[in-house]
Amino acid sequence: MLSGERLRAWIPAGALGEHLYYEASLSSTNDRAKQLAESGCPDGTLVVADEQTAGRGREGRGWFTPAGAALAFSVVLRPRSSSPDEIGGWTAVGALSVCQALQRLGAQADVKWPNDVLLSRRKVAGVLAEASWQGETAEFVIIGIGVNVRMEAVPGPRTLDYPATSVETCLGRSVDRAELLSSILAALGRWTAGFRLSEVLGAWEAALAFRGETVHVEGAGRAWQGRLSGLGPRGELRLRLDNGDSLLLPAEAMHLRPVDSGPV
Ligand code: BTN
Repeated sequence: MLSGERLRAWIPAGALGEHLYYEASLSSTNDRAKQLAESGCPDGTLVVADEQTAGRGREGRGWFTPAGAALAFSVVLRPRSSSPDEIGGWTAVGALSVCQALQRLGAQADVKWPNDVLLSRRKVAGVLAEASWQGETAEFVIIGIGVNVRMEAVPGPRTLDYPATSVETCLGRSVDRAELLSSILAALGRWTAGFRLSEVLGAWEAALAFRGETVHVEGAGRAWQGRLSGLGPRGELRLRLDNGDSLLLPAEAMHLRPVDSGPV
């Protein structure tokens, strides 16, 4: 079972998450983190819930978090300098931190652009980064991360928009959620100290799923198909079209899938 006490035992003093709010059930950890950020909580504040009753994904989609099966948490960051252009980079450091923690457990994870973490080409985690800007400066950035640890965290096929799995299914053994959270936070702490989008891009590109494969991307009422060749300077997706042209697609409202993906 998760508990505030158990989580505290896994988070070193002075590390990201030292200021911890744990609740057995919350509507959304991102919503709670936003309230705390607006009332002045310190940089690195962590909100964790065992269950979310109204967890949120990108573009108003829901995020399923039943009790006892997942990790659902949000970290409030107060970067010294960051601009709205860099929001994709904050999403990426969330996803890269999950990948690194999963690698420590022996699983090879990669990032489905822009915000999903895959194990064996199935979604195992999602990242929702939200920020409050004052002009060109971030008042705060919230990185919300949801991980399907047990198979019970994976929603039924009718509500899935992409094939999904769980960490325990892929590893074939049980995983301690508090330990996994502590490992993700340790990686996130390294990425967010002195965050620079230019420094994140190389690692993000190296971790991209489907690189060199033909992918289908939809968004803003349009669709594209081409070879995924990398990222642009702001984390845009670089697609090589059949006619040889290269296209940069911004992450907002875009959905990507490999053309060979089977039914959900
Ligand atoms: C996505 O795949 O669309 C992003 C999912 C992000 C889910 C996490 S769970 C913790 C945090 N609280 C939320 O309401 N959402 C994020």
